[in-house]
Parts: sequence; structure tokens; C-alpha cells
Amino acid sequence: MLVTLEGIDGSGKTTVWESLRAARSGGGTDRGYTFTREPTDSWYGEAARRSEDEDDANPLAELFLFTADHADHLSRVVRPALDAGDVVVSDRYSDSRYAYQGAALEGEVPRPMEYVRGVHQPWTRPPDLTLYFDVDPETGAARSGATNKFEQAEFLSDVQANYEQLRQYSPDRFVRIDATQSPEAVLDDAEDVLDRALGDA
Ligand code: TYD
Repeated sequence: MLVTLEGIDGSGKTTVWESLRAARSGGGTDRGYTFTREPTDSWYGEAARRSEDEDDANPLAELFLFTADHADHLSRVVRPALDAGDVVVSDRYSDSRYAYQGAALEGEVPRPMEYVRGVHQPWTRPPDLTLYFDVDPETGAARSGATNKFEQAEFLSDVQANYEQLRQYSPDRFVRIDATQSPEAVLDDAEDVLDRALGDA
């Protein structure tokens, strides 16, 4: 099973991912888990992160850096782990591209989110379950420190609108978690959703 964690910057999903990893990896459960993330720590991921910190990076070039990282992530990590029977939990995945580059490419290509989805569709492996950490863009920008172009409230509001659209396309795959709650409550919700999906609840 492939589980992804999605949300705007400052939604707290990385903290949840770290807690899940601490609790579930390294034995102690009957299941095997692979915890992973995008951008990855490969050189493709490093290139994508470098672009992210560049204010005037070309958004189309940036799309393909993140997409190259995804292709490598799929073949090197995600597919082998799924083939081995692991539950894969990824902090960000394809929906991050649809939501973020879908927003960044506004005015560059017609119907940007559909374009980005179309680029992935023939070869990606869609998630089975997506935990969507929902927080308002002002809180997200404030929590993340607004240190780069993606962490600005106005941009995050476009990203959030794209996530909402994606939820409407796949209502069965997305489970919304109220990320304005305390970190403990957010983690509890995430644990419950995951246990229910895995049939452990
Ligand atoms: P993030 O998970 O916030 O990592 P960190 O907190 O370590 O910087 O992801 C980095 C940023 O990259 C985030 O602002 C979202 C953005 N991003 C995209 O724009 N497209 C993508 O495809 C991915 C995976 C991330």
C-alpha cells in the first residue's frame, strides 16, 4: 500500500511523518514500512531544492526537476518497496507537483494542473491513500517562516485551491485532517486513519 502525506507548507505533515516513522519503522510491528519523501535526497532532489530557493527559477524547468526526482524515486525506492510488500509512507508525492507547479505555471501553459497531471499519468504509480493536512494559508505561511517563494500566503492559497480540486477528483483516496489542531491531536488523527486503512484499528 502506498500512503502519501500532503498539504501546504506549515501544515505540520513532516512532523507527523517523523513521528510515524519513529513509531513504526525498525521492527516492533508485523508489517514492513518504508518511509520516504519528495524531494528525495538524490542529486535530482537536490537540484529541485536548489530551484525552490531560486526566486526567478523558470517554473517549467522547475516542474521537470521535481518530476525527474519523482521518476527516480519511483524506480529506485517506491516500486521496489511495494514489490517487497512494504507499506510505503511518503512525505509529499505527485499531488505536490499537481498543486504547487499547477499554481506556479499559471499563465505559462493553459490549464496548468491538468497539464502537470497529464505529464505524470502514463508512468506514475498513484497513491492508495492520501492524508491531506488542511490548514489556512496564513497559518501555513507563518508556521513555515515564509523563507522562500513557495511559502508566501498568496501562493499557498492557490496551492490550497489546487489541493481542494484534487480532493474533489478523488474523494475516496483523500482523507482530510484538520491541521489547525494541536500537534498531538493531528498525530492521533493521522494514526487512526492509517490504522483503519491497514485494517489494524
Ligand atoms: P517540504 O516538504 O516543505 O520540505 P522542506 O520543509 O524540507 O523544505 O518540500 C519542499 C518544498 O518543495 C515545498 O515548498 C513544496 C515544494 N514542492 C513542489 O513545489 N513540488 C513538488 O513536486 C514537491 C515534492 C515539493
